Amino acid sequence: MTAAPVIIAVDGPAAAGKGTLARRLAQALSLPYLDTGLLYRAVARRVLDAGRDPSAPGAEAEAHALAPSDLDRTDLRTPEVDRAASLVAAQPAVRAALIEVQRRFGRESGAVLDGRDIGTVIFPDATVKLYITASPLTRARRRWAQGLDVAPVDGDQTAHIEAVAAQLAARDAADSARAVAPLRPAADAVVIETDAMDAETVLAKALQVVRTRLA
Ligand code: DC
Repeated sequence: MTAAPVIIAVDGPAAAGKGTLARRLAQALSLPYLDTGLLYRAVARRVLDAGRDPSAPGAEAEAHALAPSDLDRTDLRTPEVDRAASLVAAQPAVRAALIEVQRRFGRESGAVLDGRDIGTVIFPDATVKLYITASPLTRARRRWAQGLDVAPVDGDQTAHIEAVAAQLAARDAADSARAVAPLRPAADAVVIETDAMDAETVLAKALQVVRTRLA
């Protein structure tokens, strides 16, 4: 009998640090890594390029047409694509079209996958399920700090961070309220609240959870 592939599900809201953690976990465990948000972003990009409305049904056509090179596009992280990805991700037919791609990626030799529904829908039997979260303000501050050499200091920056926090909260609300595969921790997920943690501490905690589970 061959051992089942190791699947590590990393779910959570936008900008919680899932991507950073998942990439580093994959490296530490020598597993392939898939950022599943990129799949929805690439579908959204195709819909926008075609001049179509991302809230209109039918985006599964773009999901079926995805090619590996779509994920290498450099225009997948714009605010326009942020909004459009959330809209196409709420379409049941789009989600259905992307299930098999994600399962196939993990099935062969195991994987770390980050997203919103990896532990609840894509791999309900994942070896380890992590749910990474932080308050909208913490997440907005981290986003801001990533784009700057210095920490925010004046009122304008504070207003900007608060506006980003509001956008993040709105996107979380949309991702959590949708009927299909809403954002929520799996019943058996280990929830890691990262407000008071840096990336190193989150990685150490996650590795501890994984190693305990694999032992
Ligand atoms: O993680 P991200 O911000 O790149 O994700 C982009 C959008 O795709 C986001 O609005 C949520 C959605 N998404 C999803 O519904 N399911 C996933 N597994 C990954 C992302």
